[in-house]
Amino acid sequence: MPTLSVNVDHIATLRKARGAKEPDPVAVALRAELSGADGITVHLREDRRHIQDKDVFLLKNTMKTKFNLELAATKEMLSIALEVKPDMVTLVPEKRQELTTEGGLDVRTHADHLKKFVATLRDGGIHVNLFIDPAPEAVKASHKIGSNGVEIHTGLYAEARGEAATEAELKKIYDAAALSKRIGMKTHAGHGLDYRNIVPIAAMPEIDEFAVGFSIMARSVYTGIEEAVREMKRLIMGGRG
Ligand code: PXP
Repeated sequence: MPTLSVNVDHIATLRKARGAKEPDPVAVALRAELSGADGITVHLREDRRHIQDKDVFLLKNTMKTKFNLELAATKEMLSIALEVKPDMVTLVPEKRQELTTEGGLDVRTHADHLKKFVATLRDGGIHVNLFIDPAPEAVKASHKIGSNGVEIHTGLYAEARGEAATEAELKKIYDAAALSKRIGMKTHAGHGLDYRNIVPIAAMPEIDEFAVGFSIMARSVYTGIEEAVREMKRLIMGGRG
């Protein structure tokens, strides 16, 4: 059965807007779990623009499902990950000026650095995924450096307009997912997935897990987090048929 990891970064963004204690991403994460989320994701950014170190430690100690910590491959983040020991780390590229993660890792260019980084995390008992663009070279490079799996970037699919462009992006995702599965890696997908566009992606049996943040948080303003998570889960299960 495919799983859903709910990213709660945007709750921390709202908290940061007033420098307040609320809303609390940890409280929302726990409600998301109760509503059917199979895991929780947060991205601890170098500039700490939303999620703070204390959130990461609190989550580790309170949540019941799979904890996925998104990080850039820096020395500081490596030491935090080894201290927190989440179930999983997803390595992402990080730029200071970006609004959100803009693209996949350039695994081939940074292969030596990433290989050591991945090995250290795996030695610490942490499952590692690399966030990559839907390209066969990136899948192969991830496997070559010893990653447990990949998260395939679905952002261009989500932004595609028109049937032909959408189909072309879907095919790239499918091909990357099929290759990843064939070579034995865990295969996740995420970024820009929402209540309208997730079904064709959810229909791909090669994908083990979906990472969804913004659309669920936005929907929760209207319906509450419980219904927002339940509805996304329904769509994922329905897409799988
Ligand atoms: N996967 C990765 C690697 C991300 O960086 C993000 C955004 O933080 C997501 C998934 C979730 O994307 P969205 O918020 O657009 O659902």
